[in-house]
Amino acid sequence: MELIIQPGERQIATLVADAITALLDRKPDAVLGLATGSSPLAVYDELVRRYEAGQVSFARARAFMLDEYVGLAADHPQRYRNVIKTELTGRVDIPAEAVQGPDGLGEDVPAACAAYEQAIAAAGGVDLQILGIGTDGHIAFNEPGSSLASRTRIKTLTRQTRVDNARFFDGDLDQVPTHCLTQGLGTIMSAKHLVLVATGGHKAEAIQHLVEGSVSAMWPATIMQHHPHATVLVDGAAASRLELADYYRETYETKPAWQGL
Ligand code: F6R
Repeated sequence: MELIIQPGERQIATLVADAITALLDRKPDAVLGLATGSSPLAVYDELVRRYEAGQVSFARARAFMLDEYVGLAADHPQRYRNVIKTELTGRVDIPAEAVQGPDGLGEDVPAACAAYEQAIAAAGGVDLQILGIGTDGHIAFNEPGSSLASRTRIKTLTRQTRVDNARFFDGDLDQVPTHCLTQGLGTIMSAKHLVLVATGGHKAEAIQHLVEGSVSAMWPATIMQHHPHATVLVDGAAASRLELADYYRETYETKPAWQGL
């Protein structure tokens, strides 16, 4: 796992956008894995800026979302399919039909989850997966206790996650759905490159477990320690509990330029 400490989200966004731009240059029909939430917003803004400047095209790209709330109406602004359209896919040239997410409104939930796994596999798998991390250590919505080998399925959100996400629902916990469909940890681990972004002191404990803790279903993101190509980009506050922070800084400063992310 590579740990990169940067001054802030702007610098992080530049590095992640560089990696995505380079991927689309060498593979224009690349499959991107998209997260919602606050963490990737600066990355998405930077990608939109580059698209508008003619520096990158998503015309042949495909995209799969990590997760979706169960039961939010099709036109609800917080439905993740609508969120991702507002934040990224509606602002660049990716065709609408090339963007897929788990169907949180389907009546047959197991069938919807199986269909989503098949769609990802049929696309050849995810080339680069963008991830955020919950304060309780979840990635996608794999809450503590999730099977480390799980595939797309329904999950119950923890109270902590619902409290954290109430800010998107006028601060009203009762409006935050209790269930979601989420790619499993096994699904995420099948992506070729994992890129996790986290900023702020409220993420420091989760980052400490992710990078330096034991692999455990109690901190689901720790499964990433088993991935051959995982990159974690954090600011100083999110890195504040890392024992080897100086080593990570030194390693990145002396990294050969040709390596990229
Ligand atoms: C959302 C997702 C979640 C978020 C996580 C962090 O699609 O997969 O795992 O990445 O809850 O959320 P933020 O970035 O809002 O702190």
